[in-house]
Amino acid sequence: MKVLLIGSGGREHALAWKLAQSPRLTALYAAPGNPGIAEEAIIADVDTADNAAVLAFCRKQAIDFVVVGPEAPLVAGLADTLRNGGIAVFGPSAAAAQLEGSKGFTKDICAKYNIPTGAYQRFTSAEPAKAYIREQGAPIVIKADGLAAGKGVTVAMSLDEALDAVDSCFSGTFGAAGAEVVVEAYLDGEEASFFCLCDGKTALALASAQDHKRVGDGDTGPNTGGMGAYSPAPVMTPEIVERTMREIIEPTISGMADSGHPFTGVLFAGLMITAKGPELIEYNVRFGDPECQVLMMRLKSDLLPLLYAAATGTLASVTAEWRDEAALTVVMASKGYPGAYEKNTPIAKLPQAGAEAKVFHAGTALKDGQLVATGGRVLNVTAMGSTVGAAKDSAYAVLDRVEWDNGFCRRDIGWQAVEREKA
Ligand code: AMP
Ligand code: GLY
Repeated sequence: MKVLLIGSGGREHALAWKLAQSPRLTALYAAPGNPGIAEEAIIADVDTADNAAVLAFCRKQAIDFVVVGPEAPLVAGLADTLRNGGIAVFGPSAAAAQLEGSKGFTKDICAKYNIPTGAYQRFTSAEPAKAYIREQGAPIVIKADGLAAGKGVTVAMSLDEALDAVDSCFSGTFGAAGAEVVVEAYLDGEEASFFCLCDGKTALALASAQDHKRVGDGDTGPNTGGMGAYSPAPVMTPEIVERTMREIIEPTISGMADSGHPFTGVLFAGLMITAKGPELIEYNVRFGDPECQVLMMRLKSDLLPLLYAAATGTLASVTAEWRDEAALTVVMASKGYPGAYEKNTPIAKLPQAGAEAKVFHAGTALKDGQLVATGGRVLNVTAMGSTVGAAKDSAYAVLDRVEWDNGFCRRDIGWQAVEREKA
């Protein structure tokens, strides 16, 4: 099978690495790609923001299957263009991608199909939103409706903070994404990420992970795209997984099909495990980054037939096997991230990681033969271990051999699980 992978981050490097191991693969192309992905795939010269150009490339190269990594091309209808053009594609239609693209849309699906989530209201102007907030009291959560690069959510511990967040959304801080605001009850518990493949009617549970969104040790400082992750998440016990499938994932899949927007691809549920059980915080319509990196390290099965089954309505006939060991990834980022940072700083040396570890490239480029850091999040140092603690020790041992002066990382990825293992 000839496959084209869309994306250029650490998530896509992990997908490329795993796809490249498939005996069913005949050629792997990637666009835009990065130097890590280039070790696994042929970099295709095609503008991934131009849906028609991607379709034309697929026809010219006789691509059988396209795997879309990030959400932006999905929300922009790339999967629709390819599917209408007769190319099999892993990833939802633009209509189904609203599960990530519109928080209000997802909350309405939850309400309609009785899916556990925080009580909420949608607003298109500030005064009614503020009145509702005053009535509900703090803590309370304010969310810009649309895609805001992970920055559109305020978990307000005081009334003033909540009211300010409403003003900030409606004053255009998040552009069009903030034209509508969702106000939601604060959920108290432990967070976890849960991933399923979906083919429109069937959902196949993959695995769980936990990420670290804050930039600083001890989960302090501003939010980021994720500074590290591990899998599995200990809070996702078999009972909680079973309830998540029955109470959250399956009603979503049948609800989306009923409403005429069957969901295919990977459904990434952000969950809060509260005293009542699993509750939905949000959906994403793609693998998490860096959660994907730890999932791919733990997946024993061939990835290609799994993704192809999701794309072609045949998920009921496949199963996914996982290693019991833990995987943990530490993000190395450019100093200054998530604020301003210097670009094109040289990465002098990447260590050989060995069989049970892997350094995925997230924001790198080759400039005149020198590997340089081009992004905020740059490298994902990932390792396996018999426990989260062992995986953590291995990952940091590899990381400490990376020679990159402008890089930094958190030193405590996995701390909650490590404490639990010691208890
Ligand atoms: P989101 O972008 O929806 O994932 O939200 C970002 C972060 O805000 C989540 O990872 C949670 O830590 C937090 N959050 C979002 N919604 C809630 C909620 N209803 N209650 C408590 N925390 C929340
Ligand atoms: N790491 C969080 C995300 O991919 O959304």
